[in-house]
Amino acid sequence: MPFPTHRPRRLRATESLRRLVRETRLSPAQFIQPYFVCPGEGVKREISSMPGNYQMSIDRLVEECSEVERLGIGGVILFGLPEAKDEQASGAYADDGIVQNAIRAIRRETPHLLIMTDVCNCEYTSHGHCGVIKDGDVDNDATLEWLAKTAVSHARAGADIVAPSDMMDGRVGAIRKALDASGFDNIAVLSYAAKFASAFYGPFREAADSAPQFGDRRSYQMDPANAREAMKEIELDLEEGADMIMIKPALPYLDLIRQARDRYNLPIAAYQVSGEYSMIMAAVRNGWLDCERTMMETLTSIARAGAGIILTYFSKPAARLLG
Ligand code: PBG
Repeated sequence: MPFPTHRPRRLRATESLRRLVRETRLSPAQFIQPYFVCPGEGVKREISSMPGNYQMSIDRLVEECSEVERLGIGGVILFGLPEAKDEQASGAYADDGIVQNAIRAIRRETPHLLIMTDVCNCEYTSHGHCGVIKDGDVDNDATLEWLAKTAVSHARAGADIVAPSDMMDGRVGAIRKALDASGFDNIAVLSYAAKFASAFYGPFREAADSAPQFGDRRSYQMDPANAREAMKEIELDLEEGADMIMIKPALPYLDLIRQARDRYNLPIAAYQVSGEYSMIMAAVRNGWLDCERTMMETLTSIARAGAGIILTYFSKPAARLLG
């Protein structure tokens, strides 16, 4: 005789009751704000498909990072727009590359802010692919060397965590080995372990100027249909020494966040990617969705699915709201 003895609505009657029994709580400390750093001075260019997000020169980025720290946000992840691109992605691993210089500048102003870097080549290659091109496709093993060099250069500049997003096989092991060999055994690796070949990266490729000039990324990023393969990718990355793993995108892949949370004992991150952000903002601009409620509902869902860390373009407004 569950009813009328049991009335779940009793615990929903007032905000103080709802707050008391809330199962999932968000904190600014779990958010990571992505930033796109570009050459120049005083540059702050809004990304048209991602209102409220910008390409910024280092001086402006440093100011932003002070605000990120004031808001109690967990940290930042940096993406670079180099001065020039080439076949060798040399801007990715140059010691005076755009991201390396940005890390040093942020470190000077906000020494305790957590700095994460995206380790990939697509923003730095003239062809826009994530690695070395051989016979019309990305050559896995040759690309590992670029990734390892890039990770070490980020560590040398002062990054706390390097996050490889290229989806080459063996890259976590290659990066771990290179970091250790250079004396950076305390620099953590957050692997984009299960990264899908997703339509939701569209706005990012405008923001980071990283669209592939031919073909697509389906020979290295994962097929959206595959869940078992996602678990295999995570297992391989754990064996290679990943400290944390990521599922990306977030909202269309909540089932995989949950599966990973139930199986593995390490921090799990999810990336609410550019398209997830743009889609919400477009509807907000049309008056179709309420911005704050949609933002908080999606972030709560990602956390409820099991992600302790959320990379999101909503980091600042969400942190402000959480006060
Ligand atoms: C680099 C990279 C991408 C994203 C993060 N790192 C783009 C891609 O794989 O094409 C996407 C992030 C976003 O859409 O917000 N490889």
